[in-house]
Formats: sequence, structure tokens, C-alpha cells
Amino acid sequence: MKRSFESAVRQQWKENVVYQIYPRSFCDSNGDGVGDLNGIRSRLGYLKELGIHILWLSPIYKSPNYDNGYDISDYQAIMGEFGTMEDFDALLEEAHRLDIKIIMDLVVNHTSDEHRWFVESRSSRDNDKRDYYIWREAVDGHEPNNWGSCFSGSAWEWDENTGMYYLHCFSKKQPDLNWENPKVRDEVFDMMTWWCEKGIDGFRMDAISMISKKEGLPDGPTEGLYSPCTYGACNGPHVHEYLQEMNRRVLSKYDLMTVGETGGVTVEEAKKYANAEGTELNMAFQFEHVELDDGPDGKWYLNPISIPALKKNLTKWQKELDGVAWNPLFFCNHDQPRVVSRLGDNSPHSAKCIATVLHFMQGTPYVYQGEELGMTNCPFGSIEDYRDIESINAYRELTETGLRERSELLGCIAYKSRDNARTPMQWDDSPNAGFTTGRPWIMVNPNYTTINAAAELADPDSVFHYYRTLIALRQDSKWSDVIVYGHYDLLAPEHETVFAYTRQKNGITLLVVCNLSARAQTFSVPKNIRWNSAEPVTGNVPRAELTRELALAPWQAAVWALT
Ligand code: GLC
Ligand code: CA
Repeated sequence: MKRSFESAVRQQWKENVVYQIYPRSFCDSNGDGVGDLNGIRSRLGYLKELGIHILWLSPIYKSPNYDNGYDISDYQAIMGEFGTMEDFDALLEEAHRLDIKIIMDLVVNHTSDEHRWFVESRSSRDNDKRDYYIWREAVDGHEPNNWGSCFSGSAWEWDENTGMYYLHCFSKKQPDLNWENPKVRDEVFDMMTWWCEKGIDGFRMDAISMISKKEGLPDGPTEGLYSPCTYGACNGPHVHEYLQEMNRRVLSKYDLMTVGETGGVTVEEAKKYANAEGTELNMAFQFEHVELDDGPDGKWYLNPISIPALKKNLTKWQKELDGVAWNPLFFCNHDQPRVVSRLGDNSPHSAKCIATVLHFMQGTPYVYQGEELGMTNCPFGSIEDYRDIESINAYRELTETGLRERSELLGCIAYKSRDNARTPMQWDDSPNAGFTTGRPWIMVNPNYTTINAAAELADPDSVFHYYRTLIALRQDSKWSDVIVYGHYDLLAPEHETVFAYTRQKNGITLLVVCNLSARAQTFSVPKNIRWNSAEPVTGNVPRAELTRELALAPWQAAVWALT
């Protein structure tokens, strides 16, 4: 089929920046220590000031909260702690009044085991919802295969009542739906339609690359104790067929923005998920660049991310998707540690440098709450400080089996735990960072007295104002075209710390140079880049001048427009 699309096809979701809210940790309006919908509504003015036009809300549905709402027991009800459906309607209305769209998290690879579908499904072997989930007989008294759950342990749970196993790629409180059953697809599509009719503006689709499992659920290669279930679940044989059906039956009928969480996605697969004809989704999150520091059996290591490897990886995605699909750009989300503690050195200067690298690439940038303040990892102490099921289960499994030593593993968890992203948003320097008047559900990062929104709003040189500028540039008619749609080319791939690239469109070349290091560096602008005049577009060092041999300060970022 001939491709009718070019990366130059204008779309609002390409020109804006998405802001992700983790509702539990954003703003608590009633002092119970848990963020809520009215809290979010009270902060829309702040997001407006930042220049945000699209919000993605992590799940707000009814849930027993074993995985903070990613275990849904009713897709059409709001989690009690977060408020009511009336509160949601008020939030949506107020957001729309402020020209802010709301994207919902759609978690349909699995439900909670407390969802009525699963309660029925497990009640007997011949219940009419039995096939809504993936049930298998024991094999020689054991699990049906060697798949491990993403949250430790086997991906299979034995159900005493009916004497069979069910599959759960995440916790045993999150049984996987059986998408091969057309009734499951009908239920999901009806539920999506219900939300679309309410007027929501799109979906971020959780674990959506995992909805079609490998034929016959075969054993996979082991890493550590199990074969990661992602091996048998990611990019399965029917995933594109199901998404195309979803697109035909629901998405195409509304004006929506869609982005899939597509773990394990390759460039070839992403070209299908986010294909330019628009038969599936608008964007597909890839995770290779945030897995460059993994160890041989997963994430619990202290390896640094190598800058040349990071450049190589992101460049591959930039070049390969140009014109045929569209990249979502991110370093942070609710599953990642804070980027300023990972690629940077916790300083505001490094936060700005990292933001520059990301926001000038081709794609739609995603900002995760607090990233725009330079919020850092949290100095968690003992395992009791953690709330995240992934961290807690990994600690238990790896220490109990003797695979890892306690204090060494705890150090890795402190560095990589998802809870680093989930500490309360730092609003001001009042107790609990202004997040709650009560007792917060998870510890507040003690650095809120210096890193907080109130202080940064008042300081024109803050990380907040730097992000505000990046977002505004993207919408500034002088630069928008080249920032959003320009072609990308990497410079000096082998440089150890400098991430430099160009973007080009309509005779304008942007030159982006970022020193991702706490040391001063020199950088020679390659000979093939020529200019008569170089206009500074943005940067974190005042009055930076472009010369062929650049002396870069630690964490310096600079962007020039060349003519
Ligand atoms: C996704 C979510 C993560 C969640 C998991 C299970 O990876 O981003 O937070 O724990 O899916 O729903
Ligand atoms: Ca609350």
C-alpha cells in the first residue's frame, strides 16, 4: 500500500506536550494523604502556566490498589479515594474550558482478580465467563510453562477451587484477559465507547503489546529463575489484528490521541503499532533507551547509561520512524526512576540539559509530574519505606533465594525503584511539600524545602521556567515547524558525553549540543555543518556563542538556529 503520510502531516498531538499525572501523588484535596481528582482540578492553573494542553492520567478507576490502580475492579467507576464520577466530570469540564485534553489510562491486558468478570470466571469450570481469562491444567503437577511474572514469581497461580492455573503476567491480583475470546473484545470496546461518549480525549494503553500470547504458550529462555513472560506475551501473533479491530470499532469514530505502552517493541513492530495510515495507534512507547542500564537478569543494577549507547539507540528510533510513524519522547514516567538522578547529578543544571536533549527530537515529548521541577530520586532507607509491589516482591524473592545480598540489592532498589517517581509532588516548602495536610501514603522527598513549585515559579532561572520555555518554543510559529517536524541527524556519535544533533526543515537548521557530564568538555562542530549566522534559540548558559571549537561547561545545553 502506498504511504500517503509524511511526518509533515500536521496533527495537534504532535505539536503539543503531554503531561503525565500519577493521581495518588499529585495533590490531596481532603487531607487523607492520598492525591485525588479535586486536587488535580485545583492545579490545572499550574499546568496551564507550564503550557500543557494534554494530560494523561494514570488509572483513576475502582481498584483494590495492589498495583496502585493498574489492577481495575470496575472500569466504569472511580476509585473511592480519588473521588466520584461527578468529580471526574467536573475535572474534564474544567480542563476542556482551559483547552486541556484528558487522556485516560486503559488497562486491558488484565483486570483485578476482584473484577466481577474474574470472580465469575473462577467460580466454576463451566461458568460463561471462564474463557474471559487464561486457564490451563497443571502439567505433571506443575505450572503449565516456565513464564515468570513481571513482579517476581511464576506467571501462573493455582486456583484451589477449580483445580487449574490462571495466567498473570503481573501480580497474581492481575489475571490476564483472554483477548482471543471475541466476547472479551466486545466488553472492552463497549467500555471504551462509554468513556469516549463521556468526552475524554484519548487513551494511553497499558501493556498493550502483551494482549496476544504466543501460540501454545511455549516455554521460553530463562533469565534468573524464570523466563520473563514478556518473551511469550509481547508482540504476539494477533496483536495488530486486535488493535485494528479496536480502531475500526472505537477509535476511528472519535477525535482521540492514542499511545500504547508497547514493551518489547522493535522498530519494525512500532511501524505497525503507530503506522502513519492510522489503522492502529498514534504512538508506541519503546523502552530500549531506559533499559540500557539493565543487568543480565533485569533492572536491579547500578550500571550507568552509556551516552554513546543512548545516542545510538535514540538515533535509530529517530531515523527509522521519520515519515512512517511517530515517536513518543520520554525519560520519565511512573515506572522509571527520576532521570535527573540517573543521567544527571540531581542539579537543576543537569535537569535542563537532559530536557533539551529530549524536547528537540522529532516526536511528542512527555513530561512526568515533578520532572519539570527537577525532582530527584528519594533517599529511601529500609524496605519498609517502599510501597511498590515490584520492588517489595523483588527484594523478597532475590534475597530469600539467596541470589542477592540484602544491602547490595537494597542499594539497587533505591536507585531503580518505581517509588522514586511516586513520592508526592513538591508544591511548596510547607509540611509535606504542600501535597497534603494529612499523613502522606508514601514518604515525601526531604529535598522539597529547596525543590518545589512555589520556589521555582518565583525564580526565572528555575527548571520549571526552562521547561515552560521548551514547551512554548514548540508552539512558537517561528520554530514550531522545525522543532516538531524537522528531520533529525546525529553528530559525533562516538563522543563520550556530548549529545549533539541537527534538525532540518524549510532551510532552517537547528543545532542542538548538550554536554551530558559534570565535567567541562570540548566539542568540534563537524565540518559539514556550515553557517553564516547562528541565532541562539535556547540553552542553560547565558550568551553562549557558536564557534567551530566549542568549550562546553558541565551540563551545558545550547540550541542555535543556523542560516
Ligand atoms: C504497566 C504500567 C505499570 C503497571 C503494569 C501492570 O507497565 O505502566 O505501572 O504496574 O503495567 O499494569
Ligand atoms: Ca485525598
